[in-house]
Amino acid sequence: MRIYLDNAATTPLDPEVFEAMKPFMLEDFGNPSSTHAHGRTVRAAIESARKKIAELLNCTPGEIIFTSGGTEADNTILTGGIISYSVQNIITSPIEHHAVEETLNHLSKKKHIHLHKVNLDKHGNVDLQHLDQLLHKHPSALVSLMHANNEIGNLLDIEAVSELCSHHKAYFHSDTVQTVGHYPHNLKKIKVHGIAAAAHKFHGPKGIGFMFIRKDKKIQSFIHGGPQERSMRGGTENVYGIIGLAKALEIAYRDLDKHKPYILGLKSRMIEKLKQNIPGVTFHGNSADLDKSLYTVLNVCLPESDQNSMLLFNLDLHGISASGGSACSSGATAGSHVLSALYPDSKKGAVRFSFSKYNTETEIDVAVEKLRECLSV
Ligand SMILES: Cc1ncc(COP(=O)(O)O)c(C=O)c1O
Repeated sequence: MRIYLDNAATTPLDPEVFEAMKPFMLEDFGNPSSTHAHGRTVRAAIESARKKIAELLNCTPGEIIFTSGGTEADNTILTGGIISYSVQNIITSPIEHHAVEETLNHLSKKKHIHLHKVNLDKHGNVDLQHLDQLLHKHPSALVSLMHANNEIGNLLDIEAVSELCSHHKAYFHSDTVQTVGHYPHNLKKIKVHGIAAAAHKFHGPKGIGFMFIRKDKKIQSFIHGGPQERSMRGGTENVYGIIGLAKALEIAYRDLDKHKPYILGLKSRMIEKLKQNIPGVTFHGNSADLDKSLYTVLNVCLPESDQNSMLLFNLDLHGISASGGSACSSGATAGSHVLSALYPDSKKGAVRFSFSKYNTETEIDVAVEKLRECLSV
């Protein structure tokens, strides 16, 4: 039996989503920019997908812009925000996803912008008092803080941060790639200017996502070309991706009340089983705190051992797909900038298990048993 516990990297496509996409792969192939009937049918489907997403997130359809995924959405919001608002100071954290971290490093070097890192507590939580101090010193900064960390699962109090940013007139971007489709987002209430989402994190297709850009904080485009996406993103739309994205988001929110407690149950089961079976096990960040972390992510901290360096490789041989923190470090426990920032001297092992509605209690039990075998404990 092969067990997939790497759902923060990507999730399997929901068959209901695939069914919704199929007609747009085969019959409805027109270019949405064409004015003839073939094009108009597809245009109508895209606009109804946009409307559906806007309804689910409580914003207006014009504030939703389709992208190729989370990375492009983050790049566009950050680059556009910095140029459009002549940003001189950026406030961010040391544990952002590379889509944000690398973009900000690049932009700050190129445009001589000052990058300020907000303090984190020992579990990786943003120090809101320090954020307030930084904003006092640098009002009108651009703040980029992720809603949930993809490696350790820590949740940010996005509402509190949005209030602080609004008070200091800062531009606020939040990478919400791990929370869209998993937590409700009321964008009328949360004073965020830009968020990013990727469909493949909630059982939609890969290569499609969207950004929300608040209508009173418009930014310049990033990909230049045709007038698609209200001239915010040139290029023929990924039609079946967009249809699949909207369907996946609709299903995610339709079934949230059922799936959230189920997945949370799997996570708490794993925490208990690990505590019973792996001596000395602890958990990175907030990930064992069920209220303060993603219910989909558990980052396990293992006592120092010779087995740790080959652990993910061995788990894979034992039929378990998990990761070392982020997808890019699969096969090795080294390489997580998040864990290095929080635990600089640690020689402990790390495995990130991440769950979805398709996982079962049996899979959790088998995964813990296989981990125990790999560690020879
Ligand atoms: C928090 C976060 N931001 C951004 C991304 C990038 O998304 P994509 O791979 O769709 O570009 C990911 C995906 O791993 C993520 O977890």
